[in-house]
Amino acid sequence: MLQNINMKILNVVGARPNFMKIAPIVEKMKQAPDLEPILVHTGQHYSEGMSDVFFRDLGIPVPDVHLGVGSGSHAEQTARIMVEFEKVCLEYKPDLVLVVGDVNSTMACTIVAAKLLVPVAHVEAGLRSFERRMPEEINRVLTDHLSRWLFCPTDTAVANLKREGIERGVHVVGDVMYELVVKFGGRGELPPGWSEFGIEPQRFVLATIHRAENTDDEQRLRGILGALVELATDLPVVVPLHPRTQKLLPGVGLQLPPGLRIVAPLAYGSMIAAEGSAALVVTDSGGVQKEAYWLGTPCVTARDQTEWLETVDDERNLVVGAQRDRLLKAARRQLSRGRRARPAIAEATAAAKIVQMVASEGAAVLK
Ligand code: UD1
Repeated sequence: MLQNINMKILNVVGARPNFMKIAPIVEKMKQAPDLEPILVHTGQHYSEGMSDVFFRDLGIPVPDVHLGVGSGSHAEQTARIMVEFEKVCLEYKPDLVLVVGDVNSTMACTIVAAKLLVPVAHVEAGLRSFERRMPEEINRVLTDHLSRWLFCPTDTAVANLKREGIERGVHVVGDVMYELVVKFGGRGELPPGWSEFGIEPQRFVLATIHRAENTDDEQRLRGILGALVELATDLPVVVPLHPRTQKLLPGVGLQLPPGLRIVAPLAYGSMIAAEGSAALVVTDSGGVQKEAYWLGTPCVTARDQTEWLETVDDERNLVVGAQRDRLLKAARRQLSRGRRARPAIAEATAAAKIVQMVASEGAAVLK
Protein backbone atom coordinates (compact mmCIF):
# COMPACT_ATOMS: atom_id res chain seq x y z
CA MET A 1 0.00 0.00 0.00
CA LEU A 2 2.83 2.37 0.84
CA GLN A 3 5.22 1.33 -1.97
CA ASN A 4 4.31 4.06 -4.40
CA ILE A 5 4.89 6.92 -2.02
CA ASN A 6 8.33 8.42 -2.47
CA MET A 7 8.90 10.63 0.51
CA LYS A 8 11.34 13.50 0.09
CA ILE A 9 13.17 14.22 3.33
CA LEU A 10 15.49 17.15 3.96
CA ASN A 11 18.00 16.04 6.62
CA VAL A 12 19.66 19.02 8.30
CA VAL A 13 23.14 19.22 9.82
CA GLY A 14 25.07 22.30 10.84
CA ALA A 15 27.54 21.86 13.67
CA ARG A 16 29.98 19.23 14.87
CA PRO A 17 27.66 17.43 17.33
CA ASN A 18 25.11 16.93 14.54
CA PHE A 19 27.35 14.86 12.28
CA MET A 20 27.59 11.73 14.45
CA LYS A 21 23.78 11.80 14.92
CA ILE A 22 22.91 12.08 11.24
CA ALA A 23 25.46 9.51 9.99
CA PRO A 24 23.57 6.32 10.96
CA ILE A 25 20.21 7.84 10.00
CA VAL A 26 21.28 8.80 6.48
CA GLU A 27 22.87 5.38 6.04
CA LYS A 28 19.58 3.65 6.92
CA MET A 29 17.52 6.07 4.81
CA LYS A 30 19.62 5.26 1.74
CA GLN A 31 18.55 1.61 2.14
CA ALA A 32 14.83 2.46 2.37
CA PRO A 33 13.31 2.21 -1.11
CA ASP A 34 10.49 4.70 -0.53
CA LEU A 35 12.59 7.49 0.92
CA GLU A 36 14.43 10.19 -0.97
CA PRO A 37 16.91 11.65 1.55
CA ILE A 38 18.52 15.00 0.75
CA LEU A 39 21.32 16.26 2.98
CA VAL A 40 21.51 19.97 3.81
CA HIS A 41 24.58 21.37 5.61
CA THR A 42 23.96 24.86 6.94
CA GLY A 43 27.69 25.55 7.32
CA GLN A 44 27.37 26.66 10.96
CA HIS A 45 30.65 24.75 11.39
CA TYR A 46 32.87 24.96 8.37
CA SER A 47 36.55 24.23 9.23
CA GLU A 48 38.26 21.01 8.21
CA GLY A 49 38.59 19.86 11.84
CA MET A 50 35.08 20.89 12.91
CA SER A 51 33.22 19.63 9.84
CA ASP A 52 34.91 18.03 6.78
CA VAL A 53 36.83 15.35 8.68
CA PHE A 54 33.57 14.01 10.16
CA PHE A 55 31.99 13.57 6.73
CA ARG A 56 35.01 11.54 5.57
CA ASP A 57 35.44 9.46 8.75
CA LEU A 58 31.77 8.73 9.32
CA GLY A 59 31.02 8.05 5.64
CA ILE A 60 28.40 10.80 5.47
CA PRO A 61 27.58 11.61 1.83
CA VAL A 62 28.69 14.99 0.48
CA PRO A 63 25.80 17.37 1.28
CA ASP A 64 23.38 17.93 -1.59
CA VAL A 65 22.98 21.53 -0.47
CA HIS A 66 25.46 23.68 1.45
CA LEU A 67 24.13 26.95 2.85
CA GLY A 68 27.55 28.32 3.84
CA VAL A 69 26.24 30.51 6.67
CA GLY A 70 29.35 30.42 8.94
CA SER A 71 29.70 32.08 12.34
CA GLY A 72 28.01 35.15 13.79
CA SER A 73 25.95 36.30 16.75
CA HIS A 74 22.98 34.07 17.56
CA ALA A 75 20.57 36.36 15.72
CA GLU A 76 22.83 36.73 12.67
CA GLN A 77 23.57 33.03 12.40
CA THR A 78 19.95 31.97 12.99
CA ALA A 79 18.61 34.56 10.56
CA ARG A 80 21.06 33.60 7.80
CA ILE A 81 20.17 29.93 8.18
CA MET A 82 16.44 30.73 8.04
CA VAL A 83 16.70 32.88 4.91
CA GLU A 84 18.78 30.30 3.06
CA PHE A 85 16.88 27.24 4.27
CA GLU A 86 13.55 28.76 3.25
CA LYS A 87 14.83 28.97 -0.33
CA VAL A 88 15.86 25.30 -0.17
CA CYS A 89 12.43 24.25 1.12
CA LEU A 90 10.68 26.22 -1.60
CA GLU A 91 12.88 24.65 -4.27
CA TYR A 92 12.86 21.04 -3.04
CA LYS A 93 9.30 20.96 -1.62
CA PRO A 94 10.15 18.31 1.01
CA ASP A 95 7.52 16.08 2.59
CA LEU A 96 9.42 16.15 5.86
CA VAL A 97 12.36 17.94 7.48
CA LEU A 98 14.50 15.94 9.93
CA VAL A 99 16.65 17.84 12.44
CA VAL A 100 18.99 16.52 15.14
CA GLY A 101 20.27 17.84 18.47
CA ASP A 102 20.03 21.37 19.77
CA VAL A 103 22.28 23.74 17.84
CA ASN A 104 21.17 26.96 16.18
CA SER A 105 20.78 25.16 12.83
CA THR A 106 18.33 22.71 14.46
CA MET A 107 16.04 25.48 15.67
CA ALA A 108 16.37 27.76 12.64
CA CYS A 109 15.42 25.05 10.14
CA THR A 110 12.58 23.84 12.35
CA ILE A 111 10.99 27.30 12.44
CA VAL A 112 11.26 27.63 8.66
CA ALA A 113 9.74 24.20 8.01
CA ALA A 114 6.93 24.67 10.53
CA LYS A 115 5.91 27.99 8.95
CA LEU A 116 5.87 26.37 5.51
CA LEU A 117 3.66 23.63 7.02
CA VAL A 118 6.29 20.95 6.40
CA PRO A 119 6.25 18.40 9.27
CA VAL A 120 9.43 18.21 11.34
CA ALA A 121 11.02 15.13 12.94
CA HIS A 122 13.34 15.96 15.85
CA VAL A 123 16.00 13.42 16.81
CA GLU A 124 17.20 13.75 20.42
CA ALA A 125 13.95 15.37 21.51
CA GLY A 126 12.93 16.07 25.11
CA LEU A 127 16.32 16.91 26.60
CA ARG A 128 16.20 19.62 29.21
CA SER A 129 18.77 21.25 31.50
CA PHE A 130 16.08 23.63 32.87
CA GLU A 131 18.60 26.41 32.35
CA ARG A 132 17.34 29.00 29.90
CA ARG A 133 20.69 30.81 29.94
CA MET A 134 21.99 28.02 27.69
CA PRO A 135 21.31 28.76 24.01
CA GLU A 136 20.88 25.01 23.45
CA GLU A 137 17.97 24.91 25.93
CA ILE A 138 16.10 27.58 23.97
CA ASN A 139 16.80 25.67 20.76
CA ARG A 140 15.49 22.43 22.29
CA VAL A 141 12.27 23.90 23.66
CA LEU A 142 11.34 25.68 20.43
CA THR A 143 12.25 22.71 18.24
CA ASP A 144 10.27 20.25 20.35
CA HIS A 145 7.16 22.42 20.43
CA LEU A 146 7.15 22.73 16.63
CA SER A 147 7.93 19.09 15.80
CA ARG A 148 5.48 16.49 14.54
CA TRP A 149 7.70 13.53 15.47
CA LEU A 150 9.82 13.60 18.62
CA PHE A 151 12.39 10.82 18.83
CA CYS A 152 13.58 10.61 22.44
CA PRO A 153 16.70 8.82 23.68
CA THR A 154 15.36 8.08 27.18
CA ASP A 155 12.21 7.89 29.31
CA THR A 156 13.39 11.03 31.15
CA ALA A 157 13.14 12.92 27.85
CA VAL A 158 9.57 11.63 27.36
CA ALA A 159 8.64 12.80 30.88
CA ASN A 160 10.12 16.24 30.16
CA LEU A 161 7.94 16.58 27.07
CA LYS A 162 4.86 15.39 28.92
CA ARG A 163 5.41 18.10 31.53
CA GLU A 164 5.26 20.65 28.71
CA GLY A 165 2.09 19.11 27.31
CA ILE A 166 3.73 17.30 24.38
CA GLU A 167 2.50 13.72 24.04
CA ARG A 168 1.58 13.28 20.38
CA GLY A 169 4.27 11.89 18.09
CA VAL A 170 6.64 11.05 20.97
CA HIS A 171 8.68 7.83 20.62
CA VAL A 172 11.53 6.43 22.73
CA VAL A 173 14.03 5.00 20.28
CA GLY A 174 17.28 4.88 22.26
CA ASP A 175 20.36 6.92 21.60
CA VAL A 176 21.42 7.44 18.03
CA MET A 177 24.99 8.32 19.15
CA TYR A 178 25.47 4.91 20.74
CA GLU A 179 25.58 3.21 17.33
CA LEU A 180 28.80 4.91 16.31
CA VAL A 181 30.46 4.33 19.68
CA VAL A 182 29.79 0.63 19.22
CA LYS A 183 31.10 0.77 15.65
CA PHE A 184 34.27 2.70 16.48
CA GLY A 185 35.18 0.68 19.57
CA GLY A 186 37.18 2.81 21.98
CA ARG A 187 38.42 -0.33 23.68
CA GLY A 188 41.58 1.01 25.21
CA GLU A 189 43.70 1.79 22.14
CA LEU A 190 45.30 5.25 21.95
CA PRO A 191 44.56 7.56 19.01
CA PRO A 192 47.16 7.24 16.22
CA GLY A 193 50.43 8.99 17.05
CA TRP A 194 49.71 9.57 20.74
CA SER A 195 52.31 7.14 22.11
CA GLU A 196 55.02 9.01 20.14
CA PHE A 197 53.64 12.11 21.82
CA GLY A 198 54.52 10.53 25.21
CA ILE A 199 50.99 9.51 26.25
CA GLU A 200 50.37 6.10 27.81
CA PRO A 201 46.99 4.32 27.86
CA GLN A 202 45.04 4.97 31.10
CA ARG A 203 47.72 7.42 32.24
CA PHE A 204 46.21 10.69 31.01
CA VAL A 205 43.21 12.96 31.47
CA LEU A 206 41.19 14.04 28.42
CA ALA A 207 39.55 17.47 28.77
CA THR A 208 37.19 19.40 26.46
CA ILE A 209 35.79 22.85 27.21
CA HIS A 210 33.70 24.81 24.75
CA ARG A 211 30.25 25.71 26.14
CA ALA A 212 29.41 29.39 25.96
CA GLU A 213 28.33 29.32 29.63
CA ASN A 214 31.97 28.45 30.49
CA THR A 215 34.02 30.14 27.79
CA ASP A 216 32.16 33.45 27.95
CA ASP A 217 32.37 33.73 31.75
CA GLU A 218 35.93 34.55 32.74
CA GLN A 219 35.53 33.32 36.31
CA ARG A 220 34.25 29.93 35.16
CA LEU A 221 36.89 29.61 32.45
CA ARG A 222 39.65 30.46 34.95
CA GLY A 223 38.21 27.94 37.44
CA ILE A 224 38.22 25.13 34.88
CA LEU A 225 41.64 25.92 33.45
CA GLY A 226 43.06 26.36 36.95
CA ALA A 227 41.84 22.87 37.89
CA LEU A 228 43.28 21.33 34.70
CA VAL A 229 46.64 23.02 35.23
CA GLU A 230 46.80 21.63 38.77
CA LEU A 231 45.63 18.18 37.63
CA ALA A 232 48.46 18.18 35.09
CA THR A 233 50.91 17.90 38.00
CA ASP A 234 49.40 14.39 38.63
CA LEU A 235 48.95 13.16 35.04
CA PRO A 236 49.27 14.59 31.51
CA VAL A 237 46.08 16.45 30.57
CA VAL A 238 45.27 16.44 26.84
CA VAL A 239 42.93 19.21 25.70
CA PRO A 240 41.58 19.08 22.13
CA LEU A 241 40.71 22.74 21.96
CA HIS A 242 37.53 24.08 20.37
CA PRO A 243 38.12 27.21 18.26
CA ARG A 244 35.84 29.24 20.55
CA THR A 245 37.98 28.45 23.61
CA GLN A 246 41.20 28.85 21.62
CA LYS A 247 40.30 32.44 20.81
CA LEU A 248 39.58 33.29 24.45
CA LEU A 249 42.68 31.76 26.06
CA PRO A 250 45.13 34.65 25.56
CA GLY A 251 42.74 36.98 27.37
CA VAL A 252 42.71 34.72 30.43
CA GLY A 253 46.53 34.80 30.57
CA LEU A 254 47.13 31.47 32.33
CA GLN A 255 50.59 29.92 32.42
CA LEU A 256 50.22 26.50 30.82
CA PRO A 257 52.66 23.95 32.30
CA PRO A 258 54.17 21.24 30.07
CA GLY A 259 51.74 18.64 31.45
CA LEU A 260 48.83 20.41 29.73
CA ARG A 261 48.82 19.31 26.08
CA ILE A 262 46.73 21.53 23.85
CA VAL A 263 45.86 19.79 20.56
CA ALA A 264 43.58 20.64 17.63
CA PRO A 265 39.99 19.27 17.68
CA LEU A 266 40.11 15.50 17.10
CA ALA A 267 38.47 13.50 14.35
CA TYR A 268 35.66 11.25 15.58
CA GLY A 269 37.60 7.95 15.65
CA SER A 270 40.49 9.54 17.52
CA MET A 271 38.13 11.15 20.01
CA ILE A 272 36.40 7.85 20.80
CA ALA A 273 39.82 6.17 21.15
CA ALA A 274 41.02 8.95 23.46
CA GLU A 275 37.85 8.76 25.58
CA GLY A 276 38.14 4.98 25.78
CA SER A 277 41.78 4.98 26.88
CA ALA A 278 41.77 7.98 29.26
CA ALA A 279 41.95 7.54 33.03
CA LEU A 280 39.43 10.37 33.33
CA VAL A 281 37.40 12.70 31.14
CA VAL A 282 36.73 16.29 32.20
CA THR A 283 34.19 18.00 29.96
CA ASP A 284 31.31 20.41 29.49
CA SER A 285 30.02 18.59 26.40
CA GLY A 286 26.81 16.56 26.49
CA GLY A 287 27.98 14.02 23.92
CA VAL A 288 31.34 13.45 25.59
CA GLN A 289 29.64 12.74 28.94
CA LYS A 290 27.56 10.01 27.30
CA GLU A 291 30.46 8.52 25.38
CA ALA A 292 32.61 8.36 28.54
CA TYR A 293 29.72 6.60 30.32
CA TRP A 294 29.31 4.03 27.54
CA LEU A 295 33.08 3.42 27.42
CA GLY A 296 33.45 2.95 31.19
CA THR A 297 35.63 6.04 31.62
CA PRO A 298 34.99 8.08 34.77
CA CYS A 299 33.87 11.63 34.03
CA VAL A 300 33.79 15.00 35.76
CA THR A 301 31.40 17.50 34.20
CA ALA A 302 32.21 21.19 34.46
CA ARG A 303 28.58 22.29 34.38
CA ASP A 304 25.92 22.97 36.97
CA GLN A 305 23.51 20.38 35.56
CA THR A 306 23.34 17.56 33.04
CA GLU A 307 20.65 16.47 30.61
CA TRP A 308 22.01 12.91 30.78
CA LEU A 309 20.87 11.64 34.17
CA GLU A 310 21.84 8.00 33.56
CA THR A 311 25.51 9.04 33.44
CA VAL A 312 25.50 10.04 37.12
CA ASP A 313 24.53 6.49 38.23
CA ASP A 314 27.09 4.98 40.53
CA GLU A 315 28.99 8.29 40.38
CA ARG A 316 30.37 7.48 36.94
CA ASN A 317 29.88 11.16 36.16
CA LEU A 318 30.30 13.83 38.84
CA VAL A 319 28.57 17.07 37.81
CA VAL A 320 30.33 19.72 39.89
CA GLY A 321 30.26 23.12 38.15
CA ALA A 322 33.24 25.27 37.22
CA GLN A 323 34.88 26.09 40.54
CA ARG A 324 38.57 25.11 40.64
CA ASP A 325 38.74 23.28 43.98
CA ARG A 326 35.49 21.38 43.48
CA LEU A 327 36.63 20.22 40.05
CA LEU A 328 40.00 19.16 41.36
CA LYS A 329 38.53 17.25 44.28
CA ALA A 330 36.05 15.44 42.02
CA ALA A 331 38.77 14.63 39.46
CA ARG A 332 41.09 13.16 42.07
CA ARG A 333 38.24 11.15 43.55
CA GLN A 334 37.40 9.69 40.14
CA LEU A 335 41.07 8.92 39.46
CA SER A 336 41.38 7.06 42.75
CA ARG A 337 38.30 4.93 41.94
CA GLY A 338 39.60 4.02 38.47
CA ARG A 339 37.88 2.97 35.25
CA ARG A 340 34.53 1.12 35.38
CA ALA A 341 33.00 -1.76 33.49
CA ARG A 342 31.06 -0.70 30.41
CA PRO A 343 27.34 -0.51 31.28
CA ALA A 344 25.08 -3.10 29.70
CA ILE A 345 23.03 -1.34 27.00
CA ALA A 346 20.41 -2.77 24.71
CA GLU A 347 21.24 -3.04 21.01
CA ALA A 348 22.08 0.03 18.98
CA THR A 349 18.89 0.32 16.96
CA ALA A 350 17.85 3.96 17.28
CA ALA A 351 18.55 4.95 13.66
CA ALA A 352 16.71 1.92 12.26
CA LYS A 353 13.67 2.68 14.46
CA ILE A 354 13.63 6.34 13.45
CA VAL A 355 13.83 5.58 9.75
CA GLN A 356 11.22 2.84 9.98
CA MET A 357 8.80 5.16 11.81
CA VAL A 358 9.41 8.08 9.48
CA ALA A 359 8.79 5.78 6.51
CA SER A 360 5.58 4.22 7.83
CA GLU A 361 3.99 7.07 9.81
CA GLY A 362 5.21 9.72 7.38
CA ALA A 363 3.70 7.87 4.47
CA ALA A 364 0.43 7.51 6.37
CA VAL A 365 0.32 11.29 6.95
CA LEU A 366 1.08 12.00 3.27
CA LYS A 367 -1.56 9.63 1.96
C1 UD1 B 1 27.83 25.11 18.71
C2 UD1 B 1 26.52 24.79 19.43
C3 UD1 B 1 26.80 23.97 20.69
C4 UD1 B 1 27.65 22.77 20.38
C5 UD1 B 1 28.92 23.25 19.69
C6 UD1 B 1 29.85 22.13 19.35
C7 UD1 B 1 24.79 26.51 19.19
C8 UD1 B 1 24.07 27.57 19.88
N1 UD1 B 1 25.83 25.98 19.85
O1 UD1 B 1 28.58 25.97 19.55
O2 UD1 B 1 25.57 23.53 21.22
O3 UD1 B 1 27.95 22.07 21.56
O4 UD1 B 1 28.53 23.91 18.49
O5 UD1 B 1 31.00 22.63 18.76
O6 UD1 B 1 24.44 26.15 18.09
N2 UD1 B 1 34.48 28.25 14.63
C9 UD1 B 1 35.54 27.90 13.82
N3 UD1 B 1 35.36 26.90 12.90
C10 UD1 B 1 34.17 26.29 12.74
C11 UD1 B 1 33.10 26.66 13.57
C12 UD1 B 1 33.26 27.62 14.50
O7 UD1 B 1 36.62 28.45 13.93
O8 UD1 B 1 34.06 25.41 11.88
C13 UD1 B 1 34.65 29.29 15.66
C14 UD1 B 1 34.10 30.61 15.22
O9 UD1 B 1 35.01 31.57 15.60
C15 UD1 B 1 32.84 30.79 16.00
C16 UD1 B 1 33.08 29.96 17.24
O10 UD1 B 1 33.95 28.91 16.83
O11 UD1 B 1 32.61 32.12 16.28
C17 UD1 B 1 31.83 29.37 17.82
O12 UD1 B 1 31.06 28.70 16.81
P1 UD1 B 1 29.46 28.70 16.88
O13 UD1 B 1 28.90 27.97 15.72
O14 UD1 B 1 28.98 30.09 17.11
O15 UD1 B 1 29.10 27.91 18.17
P2 UD1 B 1 29.84 26.78 19.00
O16 UD1 B 1 30.49 27.38 20.17
O17 UD1 B 1 30.69 25.92 18.13
